[in-house]
Amino acid sequence: MLICFDFFCLESQYQKMETKTDQTGCLIQELLDLYEKDLPKKWDITTAPSSLQPRAEGSSPRSLSQEGKKNSQRVYSQKDFSFFIQQIEKSRGRALLYPYLGSGRGKGVYVELLDGSIKMDLLGGVGVQILGHGHKEIQRASLRAGLSDVLMQGHLLLNREYKELSCKLLDLVPKEAKLKYVWLSSSGSMANENALKMVRQKKSPRRKILAFDRAFAGRTTLMSEITSNPKVKEGLPSYDEVLRVPFYDPKDPGRSLKILKSHLEREGDNICAFIFEIVLGEGGYKSAPREFFVSLFEECRLYKVALWVDEVQTFLRTGQFFAFEKWGLSQYIDLCTVGKALQLAATFFTEEYKPKPGLISGTFSATTPALAGGLRILEILEQGYMGEEGVISRIQEDIIKLFRELKEKSLIADYDVFGLMAAFSLREPSMERTQKFLKMLFQNGVIALSCGRTRVRARFLIPAVIKKAEIQELRKVLRDTLSSFYTSSV
Ligand SMILES: Cc1ncc(COP(=O)(O)O)c(C=O)c1O
Repeated sequence: MLICFDFFCLESQYQKMETKTDQTGCLIQELLDLYEKDLPKKWDITTAPSSLQPRAEGSSPRSLSQEGKKNSQRVYSQKDFSFFIQQIEKSRGRALLYPYLGSGRGKGVYVELLDGSIKMDLLGGVGVQILGHGHKEIQRASLRAGLSDVLMQGHLLLNREYKELSCKLLDLVPKEAKLKYVWLSSSGSMANENALKMVRQKKSPRRKILAFDRAFAGRTTLMSEITSNPKVKEGLPSYDEVLRVPFYDPKDPGRSLKILKSHLEREGDNICAFIFEIVLGEGGYKSAPREFFVSLFEECRLYKVALWVDEVQTFLRTGQFFAFEKWGLSQYIDLCTVGKALQLAATFFTEEYKPKPGLISGTFSATTPALAGGLRILEILEQGYMGEEGVISRIQEDIIKLFRELKEKSLIADYDVFGLMAAFSLREPSMERTQKFLKMLFQNGVIALSCGRTRVRARFLIPAVIKKAEIQELRKVLRDTLSSFYTSSV
């Protein structure tokens, strides 16, 4: 059978599609405007749940799924809200950390819960919402992508969005770095698994991995092994794959190198990689000077151990696209994993670690809206957010100012701020007390999370769209909550 293309016909089809694309753009704008009209007028955490109709006592709570079918009600009564929380807890077999069930609405730093209350969201899906909620540009890009006929993309047959995001990611790699390739994946853990497989294939039969004492690498079996916190792997066997290196201690800066050297001298020819975070995330928002990392890296180089930076949490957040760039470590990096703020995850690698076909793939890369949304996020962040004078550096300064003031008033014991990653310790920084404080903070309208294990901290993953006035609002809530926390717990 002879297949003959009519190029003129194709051309006119294409023109029609172009016009349709314009029409789609208008339609999307109309949709966004319509959606905006229905949003609360005032977005701050003092906004009382307004549209709540108290339900008659004794009447049974509504089911969310039934209600959804009947109408598009956005918020529910307290009674219904508590019932929904119970339902989700029952379905997962575990209590929620916070009574949080979102309505799907939000604006900038604010997010709306299903009971109509508004919270200042300084956690953003644990680092996913880097440009806050309801960002029009991201919504527009994701909506347009959502109109595609292919909503989920894999690695075998891929679409334009996959190609565009991959190319953009490689464009962002600093010139001094040798990272030449990138593979997308659906989670940070999977990006790390891919990195490990690439390293092990290249370094076969080397098996062991060097990792910091306070590392967090994800929740697959092997990433749990690399993660140091015993709580997150309770009951799992140890596979004896990991050699620990203490993280930087300013009181004894040479200790880490000494221990690393002893591992390398003993087992150097069985160690394939050193995985590290430049800013410990779950490990407590701590970092180290450049020279600390360089001394460890130089030693690893002597034994041909791959240097693999886990930037799942730091990517896009420290004031440069990559933390390794900010710390001036670009030339050392063999592999780099990113995730969270990107809306999906990825593994960057050099020519040396290019895997053989068959090693890396998988059904899913990500949804088309996630790929398009991730790309738009990168494009937006390129416009004035990075660098010494960028928006992220300015937010960092404001948060440091706020924490300094709290420390001077003895309301907090210490703090660290790395761009949009900020954490502080209470006067007695135990896990129990910090969790109690965070619950109180949640009640008072601010969402945060703990990090660290022995010296536990409250941490914020701040959206890059936070405004000065909102930082002032945060200042007031923090001061009031800390004061009443200490008074109530003496
Ligand atoms: C440094 C680091 N690596 C890996 C992961 C795992 O990423 P994911 O939860 O997307 O699997 C995380 C998640 O918090 C992380 O912070």
